[in-house]
Amino acid sequence: MSRKKIALIGGGQIGGVLAQLIALKELGDVVLYDIVEDLPQGKTLDIAEASRVDQFDVSVKGSNDYKDIEGADLVIVTAGLPRKPGMSRDDLLVTNAKIMRTVSENIKQYAPNSVVIVISNPLDAMVTLCQKVTGFPANRVMGQAGVLDSSRFATFIAWELGVSVKDINAMVLGGHGDTMVPLVRYANVNSIPVMEMLERKYKDPAKAKEVMDAMVQRTKMAGGEVVKLLKTGSAFYSPASSAIAMAEAVLRDEKRVLPTCAYLNGEFGINGYYVGVPAVLGANGIERIVELNLDKDEKAMLDNSVDAVKSLIADMERLGL
Ligand code: NAI
Ligand code: 2OP
Repeated sequence: MSRKKIALIGGGQIGGVLAQLIALKELGDVVLYDIVEDLPQGKTLDIAEASRVDQFDVSVKGSNDYKDIEGADLVIVTAGLPRKPGMSRDDLLVTNAKIMRTVSENIKQYAPNSVVIVISNPLDAMVTLCQKVTGFPANRVMGQAGVLDSSRFATFIAWELGVSVKDINAMVLGGHGDTMVPLVRYANVNSIPVMEMLERKYKDPAKAKEVMDAMVQRTKMAGGEVVKLLKTGSAFYSPASSAIAMAEAVLRDEKRVLPTCAYLNGEFGINGYYVGVPAVLGANGIERIVELNLDKDEKAMLDNSVDAVKSLIADMERLGL
């Protein structure tokens, strides 16, 4: 049986970590593509030279030629530019949409049967465009945001409660922006509601709510918090790990239930948009959307987040992208 082939489009910060994680986990052979000459070749040579030490036996190849992604089973896209000082939201949208269009045309040509995971920002718009340009069925094109946003939320809860993060279940729905919806009511520590633990800790429901509100707010702003510290870029270790969790679910047909930026056909009352929701990921990509009962406030927050996604997509249309 041949190994799976995984193409990474974009060999920057996230692309490099993706390549290393795939090699360490031996998920398949990697092709790391970038437009910058020698960059992907340098990174993959560096990663491959650790194969003896780390005991992995997969091929890790860098390329500036789309032909090398031919026949890929899975493609992860991180190509794009970060927002630079003086650049408007529209400028970034125009630049990254042009890049995404070219990337998607090449995925369509060289990896027509692949499952695609988009990471590039603005995420909800880029995944929408990728699906449109490739013309792939929507189950084969998804975006990564919710796994990361949920992991951030879980991390903050674990720190606050002084318990292992391994026991935290927390999920964030909606678009990848300030309007994302961390689901407080469902957050639990091995089945024990987080709010109950906070109320016991503080012996004051108002204080418990205040602490939870702060964690929700930190989750929403977590990307910016890292940018502020790094000064020259955005988070890359945790976004790469998050996309690998999704990739692994697909490549190993795990049927994991992960928050995924998925195309909705009426689920959660949303029609015709990519939005972050729980989904079963397996060999066929997004195999099923998992609906859950949202109360009035949660539904209102999700609708607000969907409005932000709609406005992003409307901007793309207005700009003719
Ligand atoms: P980076 O700037 O380090 O890497 C981007 C790479 O894309 C660069 O190597 C660049 O040469 C390449 N590139 C530019 N134009 C290209 C083209 N036409 N074809 C192929 N490659 C091209 O950025 P980083 O940190 O790796 O982030 C990548 C993207 O992921 C950004 O858009 C960032 O905003 C986004 N991001 C998304 C997250 C999420 O949760 N969805 C989290 C963190 C970042
Ligand atoms: C993040 O959430 C900037 O989307 C990026 O870290």
